Amino acid sequence: MSSAFHTAIVPAAGLGTRFLPTTKAVPKELLPLVDTPAIEYVAREAAEAGAKKLVIVTSPTKASVANYFDENPDLEQSLTDKGKTDLVEKIQRAPKLIKAETAIQDQALGLGHAVGCAEGNLTGEDEAVAVLLPDDIILPTGALKKMAEVRQEKGGSVLLAFDIPREQISAYGVFDVRDTGSDDVKQVVGMVEKPKPEDAPSTFAAAGRYLLDRAIFDALKRITPGAGGELQLTDAIALLINEGHPVHVVVHRGGRHDLGNPAGFLRAAVDFALNTPEYGPDLREWLRERLDNS
Ligand code: G1P
Repeated sequence: MSSAFHTAIVPAAGLGTRFLPTTKAVPKELLPLVDTPAIEYVAREAAEAGAKKLVIVTSPTKASVANYFDENPDLEQSLTDKGKTDLVEKIQRAPKLIKAETAIQDQALGLGHAVGCAEGNLTGEDEAVAVLLPDDIILPTGALKKMAEVRQEKGGSVLLAFDIPREQISAYGVFDVRDTGSDDVKQVVGMVEKPKPEDAPSTFAAAGRYLLDRAIFDALKRITPGAGGELQLTDAIALLINEGHPVHVVVHRGGRHDLGNPAGFLRAAVDFALNTPEYGPDLREWLRERLDNS
């Protein structure tokens, strides 16, 4: 069995209601962290882990998300004419990273349904697929490589987990885990979407990175609406576990940004800006002054 995956699926069909009114006209996935849309970071992470193809699952009104990965020869030419080679490099970055395709989800029926919409974009080569939720920025990157190593060793599907304070757990898919002898890899014996804190089987939550055996697509056809009345990816994974399919998690000990709401997005934007030589030093100074005067 090959551990490699060629295709990364990025569900990006949501309405972005937490970012209204902006998302009336601009898809959430194109909002910039400093000057670069979050989806470019996620695409880079997938490409660095070996993905050759990015399937963006989007709604009919959000074509601009995939357009972002197209070349723009007119703009390139006009920037080249002005000698702005640094900007030419910037606009070429996304199309050079990875080949992007779209799959259309025409009804918002849930994350499981969105992932299922990408099945038609797979080829016979795809024994497993990566799924990256673009609201989750995982730092440092590299988790998918580790997950692929675990799939190579244990087979089946491998997900990324974060240890989350129990009072926040009901925003997540939560794992029921058993030790494997390694601190960072656990066997998953059950998974439940958005449990109440008192019902959560652990404090290990799904963190937006999945390496799923192709069997997930068959399971996705057999689930019924779950938490929030939606077709949940978590429920398809739980079904595979019940049927004896091996599922493990890699426990991530690094950082994470949640871009799913303005508060998390702002933190990420400040964090990314502080790390740039261009804006970091001034921003740091301004923030200090601003906080001293608050
Ligand atoms: C989704 C998944 C959930 C996962 C979370 C990670 O939930 O359904 O299992 O833990 O992403 O961000 P959402 O944030 O879309 O409600």
